[in-house]
Order: sequence, then C-alpha cells, then structure tokens
Amino acid sequence: MGVRLPSARTPDPSTAPRLRWGILGPGWIAERFVASLLEHTPQEVSAVGSRSADRAEEFARRMGLPVAHGSYQALVGDPDVDIVYVSTPHPQHHRCALDAIAAGKHVLVEKPMGINAAQAREIFAAARAAGVFAGEAMWTRFLPKFDVVRQILDDGLLGTIHTVVADHGEFFTPDHRIYDPALAGGPMLDLGTYPIAFARWILGDVETVAALGQSANEELNGQISATLGHVGGGQSLVNTTILSNTPTTAFVAGEDAYLELPGPFYQPGPFRLVPRGAEPLTHEENHAPHADGLHFSASDAARRIADGAVDSAIHPPTDVIGTLEVMDRVRAELGIVFPGER
Ligand SMILES: NC(=O)c1ccc[n+]([C@@H]2O[C@H](COP(=O)([O-])OP(=O)(O)OC[C@H]3O[C@@H](n4cnc5c(N)ncnc54)[C@H](OP(=O)(O)O)[C@@H]3O)[C@@H](O)[C@H]2O)c1
Repeated sequence: MGVRLPSARTPDPSTAPRLRWGILGPGWIAERFVASLLEHTPQEVSAVGSRSADRAEEFARRMGLPVAHGSYQALVGDPDVDIVYVSTPHPQHHRCALDAIAAGKHVLVEKPMGINAAQAREIFAAARAAGVFAGEAMWTRFLPKFDVVRQILDDGLLGTIHTVVADHGEFFTPDHRIYDPALAGGPMLDLGTYPIAFARWILGDVETVAALGQSANEELNGQISATLGHVGGGQSLVNTTILSNTPTTAFVAGEDAYLELPGPFYQPGPFRLVPRGAEPLTHEENHAPHADGLHFSASDAARRIADGAVDSAIHPPTDVIGTLEVMDRVRAELGIVFPGER
C-alpha cells in the first residue's frame, strides 16, 4: 500500500483559551472530568453545583474547587462561571442545559445530550437563539486517535466501506443508576451511544433498522443488538449490554483494507490498519483511563467559544441529533420508552 498512518492534527489542549467552568451534578464522571481539566489544561474550574449543599462542599473540597453551590440555579446564576458542564443523569440533561442557557451560559452536556433527538434539537435551538455554545461531551470523538481514523477514512485508504461492527458491554449490578428506569436506565444511553455514534460517524445516516432486545428484569432492557442499513450503502452491527462485560472492540471493513480497534475502542489506545495483501500498520498509543481523555472535548469547546461559534465542528449538532435519531428508532423497534416520553 506504501502508506504511513497520518499524525493527529488535534490542537494541544494546554493552549486552548481559558474558560471558567461550573460543574452541575457532582457524580462519577464529574470527578473524572474535573481531574482531566486540572491535570491537562489551563481551564479553571470555578464552582460546583449540587442539589445538596453538603455534597457540593464535599466535592469542592475533594477536587480543590473554590466555590460550592447548594442548588443548580445558584450555579447557573454564578457570574464567575462561563460554561456549565452538565453531568447529571440522562433525563436531567435537557432541563439543566436549558436552565444554564437561559442564564446566559455556554453548555457542554454529557453524552447523550438528551434522552431523545427532540431534546437535543431543543437544546441546540435554545443555544443558537441565545448566542451561546452548546456541545455534547462525546469525549471519544475529540481524542487524537479518532482524528487519525478520520484522516484514514477521508484519504480513502479503506476503499469503499461495507461494514462497521462495534460493541460496548459492561456488567453492572442492580444498585447502579443504570438499572433505574426513572433515570432512563438500560444500556442504550450510557453505552450504546458509543457504537451507534461510531457507526453513524463512519457510514452516515441510517435508512433501515432491525433490532433485538433482551430484558434485564420486568421493567428494564438489558441488551440490544441492531443491524443498521446506511443511506449511502454499507451496514453496521452494533451491540450493547449491561448484562456482561464484553471486549468493546470495533472494526471498519472496506474493499482495500480494514481498521481493527481493540477494546475499549472508544478510549485512547492503539489500532491497526490491515490492507488487503500488504503488511498491517499500527497506530501506537497507550490505553488510558477516562481522566486522560475528557479534556479534549472541553478544549474544543473553549476554542470554538473563543472563535464565536455556537457549536462544535468536530462533533456537530447533526451528529449528536443523528445518533439520537438512530437510538430513537432502535428503541421504537423494541418498545423501549423513557420517562416523560409516553
Ligand atoms: N463520558 C463518559 O465516559 C461518561 C462516563 C460515565 C457517565 N457519563 C454520563 O454522565 C452522566 C452522569 O453519569 P454518572 O455516572 O456520573 O452519574 P452519577 O455518578 O449518578 O452522578 C450524577 C449526578 O447527578 C446529580 N443528579 C441530579 N439529579 C439526579 C437524580 N434524579 N438522580 C441521581 N442523581 C442526580 C447527582 O448530584 P447531586 O444530587 O449532588 O446534584 C449525581 O451525583 C450520564 O448522562 C452518563 O451518560 C459519561
């Protein structure tokens, strides 16, 4: 094939313009997000907001933040906050993001932006109307590794792509919020968003959906396997489950070569380009935990805001909404309805 793998064009996160971040919902991912920002960027985390003053103070103390607010309204009204990072459970993203936008703040919302495409559309429309930035913290898309993948795809190194296969399974015990139907539990929104967003990013909009589901218990879906037929041709197989740990691998197969992404495919790590009839090429990169990757999406938001943009070019609203539309269709096939959707 006579090619070398391209280098990532991702700008250095330590050179992104500084914003003052307010953390809304101090849970598991919020802790990792703050650690990532403070370790790798000049971003300032100026405040945290919780539904409880005690929890806000405890998080602020633990993470070394100067201000703790005992309500989300107080956080979004804080004049020393430029951008609100929404890290509540999925059904709360919509209300929290709209409240922050109404208070004149930029927002970076944890994935998925809402429980369905309609919620994401509303958030983007509100942000555009207010002239503030709205983005989904689909952190994986902003990792340098995926810029290398993007270039390989754009350079046509795979030839015509026919197949994407992607999986994300993680075993959870029933005491985790992912088992709570009131919090839009089940694998789809937490885990399924990764393989579905990946498949759509590679092969584009989806024309046909065929899905099978398996229950975790009487009130919750536990596993989804879906085949997606894409508008431009090609098909993908996506799998997601909370019933088992899985290898969380992915591959993209084209006429001339395939890309093999070992698990966890969506995190920093290596991958291989395997051409037909030639030696494989490896993108060398160490596997790294969440806190070594979440800051790339924050840095992209900071750059876009400095440029006066209201959304991300790397992970634009069309991708956020398009992925949620696919998830809506897969759920419709399986009769999965989230709270407030009936
Ligand atoms: N990017 C990633 O890799 C990644 C990884 C994990 C999760 N996430 C996303 O981040 C979001 C939060 O996940 P998490 O695992 O961090 O959840 P979590 O640990 O349960 O934290 C969520 C926080 O939201 C607040 N909250 C507001 N309303 C709530 C309610 N009704 N029930 C429970 N908590 C509520 C709570 O803080 P207060 O009550 O103190 O305000 C809680 O600490 C999810 O949308 C998830 O998809 C992303």
